[in-house]
Amino acid sequence: MNDSVFNLKTFLAEHQVLVNTHLKKILQTLESDRELVQAMTHSLMAGGKRLRPVLALASARACGKDFTLALPAACALEMIHTYSLIHDDLPAMDDDDLRRGKPTCHKIFGEATAMLAGDALLTHAFTILAHPCDLFDPVPEPQNLLDLVAVISRAAGVNGMVEGQMLDMMHSVRKIKDKGNKPQLLDHLKDIHALKTGQMILASVVSGAVSVNAPDHLRLPLEIYASHVGLAFQVMDDILNVQGDPEKMGKAAGSDILKDKLTFPAVMGLDRSKAYAKKLTDQAKDALDRFDGNADPLRAIAGYVTNRDR
Ligand code: IPE
Ligand code: IPE
Ligand code: MG
Ligand code: MG
Repeated sequence: MNDSVFNLKTFLAEHQVLVNTHLKKILQTLESDRELVQAMTHSLMAGGKRLRPVLALASARACGKDFTLALPAACALEMIHTYSLIHDDLPAMDDDDLRRGKPTCHKIFGEATAMLAGDALLTHAFTILAHPCDLFDPVPEPQNLLDLVAVISRAAGVNGMVEGQMLDMMHSVRKIKDKGNKPQLLDHLKDIHALKTGQMILASVVSGAVSVNAPDHLRLPLEIYASHVGLAFQVMDDILNVQGDPEKMGKAAGSDILKDKLTFPAVMGLDRSKAYAKKLTDQAKDALDRFDGNADPLRAIAGYVTNRDR
């Protein structure tokens, strides 16, 4: 990581604290003795990287506006992301025991409560976007809030992350190869990754711009940046599943091969996957060439995506 111009470590730490403070505020409005709230809190506050909320804040900053306007969207995105992880870890899906360095939600609270905790995080994210005034100041204009609901619900739902999760479940390496269409394997994999991970990362960056009512000419390059970062992020997730350290990642490694998951290392090998992730992050940075120094956090985050170890 090149820290000479811009210190990403400090930026990430400060913005993670800001996001965590507001997430705690949201949870404090709910009675903490309820089992459902305890399950939501367990997963939400278990210590994720907060990449999506930080991207939303960095994107708002890149537009040269008061980035704190993006805090309601940032929190909503993290709540939805956490819900997706709770459900992703369930026995019916990836059946994982460890997440964010802690036992998965269903391991502590049982499957039914984990499902409901996910449902509640998803739903409550939109309550926050509908009524941010109770907890945030400043807040986006009403029309921008409505646009945020549209952007985020679309990315999370039937044509976004949920469909990506569906395709991820349906397609193993073996099933695809059995169909005999190997050349299409890569395109298919890119489509799955763009949906299951890319859409929420795209929505995070777009949400930053929408929160500050950025003009269209800024939104388009931000979208190009985000679609490259989103794909690179999941390629790196695949690489870490092969060679990452479970201690550092706070989740299992080696599980994709065991489950015959369709991943970039499975299709193109580790070295080509790494080169591809690097190429994507370079393309992401190139998309920001007309932005000034306010976009340095976004540029640095693109680099971080392929240099991370968790
Ligand atoms: C993990 O996301 C799941 C994917 C979509 C790849 P993160 O790697 O952002 O997980 P946390 O939020 O830091 O736990
Ligand atoms: C998780 O993808 C994606 C979502 C939760 C939408 P993976 O199943 O590949 O990610 P990890 O490795 O469990 O974090
Ligand atoms: Mg999964
Ligand atoms: Mg998983």
